[in-house]
Amino acid sequence: MLHPSLVTTLERFILDQEREHPDATGELTNLLYDIALAAKIIAAQIRRAGLVNILGAAGSVNVQDEEQQKLDVFANETMKNALNHTGRVCAMASEEDETIIPVPEGVQPGKYTVLFDPLDGSSNIDVNAAVGTIFSIYERRSASGQGTLEDVLQPGRNQIAAGYVMYGSSVMMVYAVRGGRVHGFTLDPTIGEFLLSHDDIRIPPTGKYYSVNESNFGRWSIGTQRAVRGFHGDDPARLKGKNSRYVGALVADFHRNMIAGGIFMYPGDRKNPNGKLRLLYECAPMAFLAEAAGGAATDGTRRILDIVPTALHQRVPLVIGGSDDVDYVRTVLIESGADE
Ligand code: AHG
Ligand code: MN
Ligand code: MN
Repeated sequence: MLHPSLVTTLERFILDQEREHPDATGELTNLLYDIALAAKIIAAQIRRAGLVNILGAAGSVNVQDEEQQKLDVFANETMKNALNHTGRVCAMASEEDETIIPVPEGVQPGKYTVLFDPLDGSSNIDVNAAVGTIFSIYERRSASGQGTLEDVLQPGRNQIAAGYVMYGSSVMMVYAVRGGRVHGFTLDPTIGEFLLSHDDIRIPPTGKYYSVNESNFGRWSIGTQRAVRGFHGDDPARLKGKNSRYVGALVADFHRNMIAGGIFMYPGDRKNPNGKLRLLYECAPMAFLAEAAGGAATDGTRRILDIVPTALHQRVPLVIGGSDDVDYVRTVLIESGADE
């Protein structure tokens, strides 16, 4: 049985960290709790994902409206509802919403913006595989009132905190605050609490896994093809061959590489020069975590955290993981530039 003196809850951990920063107001702490609550609600719904149709068809259980909603819509609404009434945010932006999301009339706008991908890897739901939620927190730039586009279109290096929740064989929340390290918490479903399970996660400079959708190989640049051949072991003088793993959910692929060591790429190709992943909801928060864990993230030439966004749903190529592995890819891309 769990003894309170032996476990560190997410709440206790965040409070302890806050005490180390005497200027902290506690608002960020509460924002992280808000997200943890949303994560628990989303996790509970995901657990039932395969049952909704059965129970609905049998009519034996009162199926709530939200149970029939698509899970990405449910996750999006849950995140918004957990955050918008708190007085801590002035605006939100979500992968699922076309435009910036204001706080409701009558709610005092706060000093933060929160950006999120409410359900990452959503197609995995149909096959009972891992999915996630990604979040990113900034301090507003405008002085007061409802948040504006300039409050959310900030370079990733301005993030105050970022993290993800992974709904896998267990549910984990992983986050870092600016200047801090990366910590992981596993949800104990019996008590409904996130407990510290991975203190100070570090990405090894080089790892044994690479993750990329190789069905796009023929559309890649010569540089990207060379880099991936390097992963295969074709450039032994500079890089040891790696093992391939690809879940198709950024959260799951990134999480594995954080814990076990490795590199993830979603490069641009002839059809989609900027790749697939969104800067604000996927690349910037993961880059923030990667760097906080000693790793790196680039679009091939620029540090992801330095890219100044120009549009909410902007996409950028992503190379992220161990620092030496990311350096290898960057070098191969630069060397191959002239051969394209
Ligand atoms: P989302 O479900 O939020 O749209 O994200 C899916 C993304 C990402 O999680 C994953 O890394 C990538 O799509 C996989 O894309 P491919 O199927 O093209 O490999
Ligand atoms: Mn996504
Ligand atoms: Mn999504």
